[in-house]
Amino acid sequence: MSSVSLLLSLLLSLLLGVAIVRGGSEFRICAFNLHHFGESKSNKDEVMITLARIITRCDVCLLQEVRDRKGTAVSKLLQTIRWYDTRNQYDLLASERLGRTESYQEQYVFVYRTNTVKVTGQYQYPDNMPGDEDAFSREPFVVRFKAPKTSIQEFVLIPQHTTPTNTTKELDALYDVLQNVRRMWRNENVMLLGDFNADCGYLAKKNRDKVRLMTDRSLHWLIGEDTDTTVKLSTSCSYDRIVVHGEKFNGAVVPSSAQPFNFQQDYRLTEEEALNVSDHYPVEVLLKTQLNRIKKPDEKQEQQDGEEDDPGTVSLRCWREELRQGEQGHHQQAQDPKHHHVNWNNWSRWTLIGRRFKEFLDCTQ
Ligand SMILES: *[C@@H]1O[C@H](CO)[C@@H](O)[C@H](O)[C@H]1NC(C)=O
Ligand SMILES: *[C@@H]1O[C@H](CO)[C@@H](O)[C@H](O)[C@H]1NC(C)=O
Ligand SMILES: *[C@@H]1O[C@H](CO)[C@@H](O)[C@H](O)[C@H]1NC(C)=O
Repeated sequence: MSSVSLLLSLLLSLLLGVAIVRGGSEFRICAFNLHHFGESKSNKDEVMITLARIITRCDVCLLQEVRDRKGTAVSKLLQTIRWYDTRNQYDLLASERLGRTESYQEQYVFVYRTNTVKVTGQYQYPDNMPGDEDAFSREPFVVRFKAPKTSIQEFVLIPQHTTPTNTTKELDALYDVLQNVRRMWRNENVMLLGDFNADCGYLAKKNRDKVRLMTDRSLHWLIGEDTDTTVKLSTSCSYDRIVVHGEKFNGAVVPSSAQPFNFQQDYRLTEEEALNVSDHYPVEVLLKTQLNRIKKPDEKQEQQDGEEDDPGTVSLRCWREELRQGEQGHHQQAQDPKHHHVNWNNWSRWTLIGRRFKEFLDCTQ
């Protein structure tokens, strides 16, 4: 029985592996407010798997509202991510716990693929500008990345989760951070991203003229004002934003690729299930890669990918996760010229397939 299923699983994954070609030429940057991510959330398996699923779509993912006093939830999340996507290698870089009071602190955490990006600098903004000391509640933890597959090569990310009641002030102060970072690293390729709370009740229309980050023409706001980045059906606010500095960086972004990722719709979750993950959608943007110049990513295939993803029952979902992993592994091998000729007489390959199958069985229990 089990060997029949094993064979069936193998055949299916082979068939799907042929049918679904994944866009290996993409480079995705994401920002996700995890809404009170800490121990209690990390104990919910469904939530952790959904988080892993979302985060592993990204080459670099900025996590915000990480409230993990002991640091156990974050390391559990990294473990889940590594288990979920064995095709890439992941690591993370976390800021100190930041906040004006001891009782409420948050961390910025960057999860990134070590096989596509390297951290080349990090900088905790000191927030001591004369005349404007302590402008931020959660001072930006600035990170510079090198990504050889992108056309831009090296870029800087400035994260920010603003305090809702001080949004106008903090957004304006981000402009000073930008100038500071540009000078310090002599790098113009800067992206600012995160939950800016830049909409609805927190940023009045009349205050936008006071925000230099909005009035300076060298800054490009990629997520539009009419975008909804909130999960709740009853709210529609463009809180989470991605802003790039300079024409060069703007030109290195895939046009119209900046958008929220509606994971509720994509993964067919109920509103309650989605809200257990977060009250925000992640926002994301694609950077042009060296490969884009030769070959454009096949958008039709991406859509088919989405439709194929149809989690019904838990066991069906597990089954599909296993297939997905199998098909990803297969695809990677097919692309690698060294493995062009697949040798099915290879016992370590069979062991690998056996392990996958066991993981699948564990998953369905
Ligand atoms: C808003 O900013 C002011 C001054 O920068 C600060 O004193 C105040 O605590 C801030 N409010 C919150 C809720 O952090
Ligand atoms: C969401 O989380 C709450 C609190 O932990 C739990 O009681 C509820 O069952 C969860 N709902 C869904 C749909 O997962
Ligand atoms: C056998 O399969 C394993 C796992 O897929 C792979 O790492 C290894 O290179 C393969 N060896 C040969 C000789 O094909």
